[in-house]
Amino acid sequence: MADFFSNKHVWITGASSGIGEALARELAARGAYLTLCARRESVLNALREQLPNAEHHRVLVLDLAQPEALFEQVRAAAAGCEVDILINNGGISQRGRADETAFAVDRRVMEVNYLGSVAMTKALMPKLVAASHGVVATVASVSGLVGSQGRSAYSASKHALMGFMESLRAEMHGKLQVTVACPGWVHTQISVNSLTASGEPLGKMEPGIANGLSAEACARAFLHAIARGRDEIVIGKGISALAPTVKRFLPAVFKRMNRKRAYR
Ligand SMILES: NC(=O)c1ccc[n+]([C@@H]2O[C@H](COP(=O)([O-])OP(=O)(O)OC[C@H]3O[C@@H](n4cnc5c(N)ncnc54)[C@H](OP(=O)(O)O)[C@@H]3O)[C@@H](O)[C@H]2O)c1
Repeated sequence: MADFFSNKHVWITGASSGIGEALARELAARGAYLTLCARRESVLNALREQLPNAEHHRVLVLDLAQPEALFEQVRAAAAGCEVDILINNGGISQRGRADETAFAVDRRVMEVNYLGSVAMTKALMPKLVAASHGVVATVASVSGLVGSQGRSAYSASKHALMGFMESLRAEMHGKLQVTVACPGWVHTQISVNSLTASGEPLGKMEPGIANGLSAEACARAFLHAIARGRDEIVIGKGISALAPTVKRFLPAVFKRMNRKRAYR
């Protein structure tokens, strides 16, 4: 039987690093035609050249922090193309107590993680609906299910994204598949690129991230969930992936734990 992703046209945001890069490598190996999106053109071009059938893939430089311009750019770039699957993966995290964090950081994280993904989704929606089995797949986070310390802006942006996708799933039932992944700690550059309270990159690989799931394992689990038509999947190992279950079934335990640590 042909692989679910074989000959599908897939757009991936955040393809230049981490989970997005791992998704691109896995999808290219499985015969998909990719549009690789992020800001760093040279990194995307280098990735494209390493992929099997490089000539099947293209690079689109875009900035998720400019949602209005992004909408127009993506509409234009998709004209005349088929699009079967959009993977909203590009994003940025944040580290810092809410009362110490500049509004500019709250705004930036919300623009990149939430409005950028909403703009991508709206821009490609006509194409996805026209596809025989269109999919909007989104990398949210365990932080989209539980709030944790030092992550107020990040957690808010991922909760917003999950709310948007849940509404979309109900509205587009029968026309569009909407799948959301909620990873716990995954070994990528996420903490290095996180914004501190003043908006500077943290520049540090945190131990939880360094010891997290590999980006490749996360990508494979997400693609499996997409191919199976799942609505939502938590991906990860250890406490970072267990937090939503503990919150649901043992809320008092969760509350105590949550005062002590961050999960993602
Ligand atoms: N790693 C984890 O533990 C973890 C856990 C849960 C959820 N996630 C989510 O997984 C997704 C991927 O993150 P990652 O862990 O792979 O981190 P990463 O290695 O830092 O990759 C982030 C990606 O997002 C892109 N990006 C960031 N800002 C952008 C912007 N303004 N415009 C366009 N692209 C932008 C980056 O590309 P450029 O810099 O080239 O633009 C990069 O490709 C994110 O949504 C993150 O929230 C990660």
